Amino acid sequence: MLTTQQPVFRRFWHAVMPLSHLADGPQPFTLLGESIVLFLDEHGQPAALRDRCCHRTAKLSKGWCNNGRLQCGYHGWVYDRTGQVVQIPQYEEGRRILPDFKTTAYHCVARYGYAWVALEDPVADIPEIPEFEAPGWRTIFQFYERWETSPLRALENSFDNSHFSFVHRATFGVAAQPKPSRYEIVEGDTGFYAETVIDAANPPQYQRVSGVSDPITTRHMRNAYFQPFSRRLDIEYPGGVRHIIINCFTPIDDGSIQLCQWLFRNDTEEDCPAQLLIDFDEVITREDKDILESTDPDALVDVRRRGVEFSMDSDRPGMLIRKKLMAMLASHGESEVHRGLPGVKIMLSREGASA
Ligand code: FES
Repeated sequence: MLTTQQPVFRRFWHAVMPLSHLADGPQPFTLLGESIVLFLDEHGQPAALRDRCCHRTAKLSKGWCNNGRLQCGYHGWVYDRTGQVVQIPQYEEGRRILPDFKTTAYHCVARYGYAWVALEDPVADIPEIPEFEAPGWRTIFQFYERWETSPLRALENSFDNSHFSFVHRATFGVAAQPKPSRYEIVEGDTGFYAETVIDAANPPQYQRVSGVSDPITTRHMRNAYFQPFSRRLDIEYPGGVRHIIINCFTPIDDGSIQLCQWLFRNDTEEDCPAQLLIDFDEVITREDKDILESTDPDALVDVRRRGVEFSMDSDRPGMLIRKKLMAMLASHGESEVHRGLPGVKIMLSREGASA
């Protein structure tokens, strides 16, 4: 699937950038192939504009902010958060600025410490994260980085428990137990909830993460999918410690994503330092990144050119994600688009296609 060729994705909120990154001035980002610039307005709220000045097309992200207005770095035209040019330094006092002097403004709000952007009128809300700043929970901003893969690949991987014994054999995977535990899945209208119990390695250097000292631990995994490209993984360790990961796989273009990852814990810094939790998840995340960047971001189906992707039973959550996305595309009059093959329909293999 080429995410930039599916217009409906422009109508969802995407986590784009930590608000802390905007403290130093305007910042560029590419969302679904569109160059945007983010900045803080006069109220300290994030704003997003097309990263192109309407005078001589300079990138507005090359400019700077003055009192919540964005000034182009080329000739100094000044924009407000609606994209309107509100000041032209070269004009004499009182001269009217034509209303056509403007650039595109996008929907942009602050939530969970991030700027979220929808390129067009959103069709769904930002997912709820009740643990954010809630009593008894701490928030740890873990990762904000570019991966050379597609959001669908990253999403499927985040529900795929048959890769643990291989990709994660050096961390929490149990190499001797390649047969994955089965998910119990409850479907919603647009997403689903998948629950399972796994055995996981619990090496000494990470036992403060799990809060238990057994070499192998049983972990309760509650994994939820939110359209289009977000998930919530709630891991409960045997002693009751909860390790809740929120991922947004924000589409940059057809072959890359921005990984945005939050962690919520119901223990304390004394129980397990935040840096240890970051280090622990970073090793695992590197393992996922390395293998995902070896996959074809557009190899979903493409029957005529590269052959079908075959599936197995444990791919069921991934197949369900595909099914939900296909249904969503269809409800907006779209079908899946591939490189050189506009409008190719998805074809599911028999095994694992029962989602
Ligand atoms: Fe921006 Fe001239 S290009 S003010």
